[in-house]
Amino acid sequence: MRLKNKVAVITGGAQGIGRAIAVGMAREGAKVVVADLQSEKAGSVADEVKILGGDALGFEVNVADESSVKRLAEATFAEFGRVDILVNDAGVYLKSSVVDMSEADWDRTLDINLGGNFLCCRAFVPAMREQKSGRIIKSLARELGPDGITVNAICPGSANTAMPRGHRSEEEVMQRLHSTPLPHVLEPEDIAGPILFLASDAAAYITGQSYNINCGTYMY
Ligand SMILES: NC(=O)c1ccc[n+]([C@@H]2O[C@H](COP(=O)([O-])OP(=O)(O)OC[C@H]3O[C@@H](n4cnc5c(N)ncnc54)[C@H](O)[C@@H]3O)[C@@H](O)[C@H]2O)c1
Repeated sequence: MRLKNKVAVITGGAQGIGRAIAVGMAREGAKVVVADLQSEKAGSVADEVKILGGDALGFEVNVADESSVKRLAEATFAEFGRVDILVNDAGVYLKSSVVDMSEADWDRTLDINLGGNFLCCRAFVPAMREQKSGRIIKSLARELGPDGITVNAICPGSANTAMPRGHRSEEEVMQRLHSTPLPHVLEPEDIAGPILFLASDAAAYITGQSYNINCGTYMY
């Protein structure tokens, strides 16, 4: 097991890629905090992990709200006493076209997709600094390297989750999913796999990198 007794916080863990990461990390021995705006679904993923014999906490969080993120950190430390891995997976994809997107939707996207990263890192980095180790999946590598904390980013291609279905027909979604050099539809588990590696000791000297996981397709 690559993550035995590590404590992993996965935002956006209630479904899609985040759920695959949470279940994958639990299978590798991690204790997982499944943190998501959708509290019932987060609880169901935590239950799924427990049925597999793992240790999990489902927790409702809004990553764009500082006090909510603080509550997540407090609950994590109260339940598991430490944090080793932070996966900033929570995100939204509100409209595909920059022309159609309202300013309010743009602000909301930045608040969640970017601001959420900032708030979660700020809440969990002090504990990682103190223990001189940690894994964060996103940005900040140079600042945190001297503390033994590695930071890497994952850039997924179009994946088979609810997200692209928010504003594309099923036919369009399937057409995109199949237009890759590899004869394979990108599933959440395909993205979770490399993240498990980056979170493990085997990736101790990999930091500040971005990985495209897209079945060989860069742009459509
Ligand atoms: N699916 C794709 O094709 C694709 C492609 C590129 C990048 N991504 C990124 O991967 C990540 C996961 O995508 P997915 O396809 O699993 O999406 P998804 O919509 O299935 O899951 C996203 C999760 O984030 C949660 N979330 C949204 N806003 C939140 C908030 N404010 N606080 C807490 N949780 C919140 C949602 O409730 C949901 O459970 C996202 O950051 C997304 O931008 C996805």
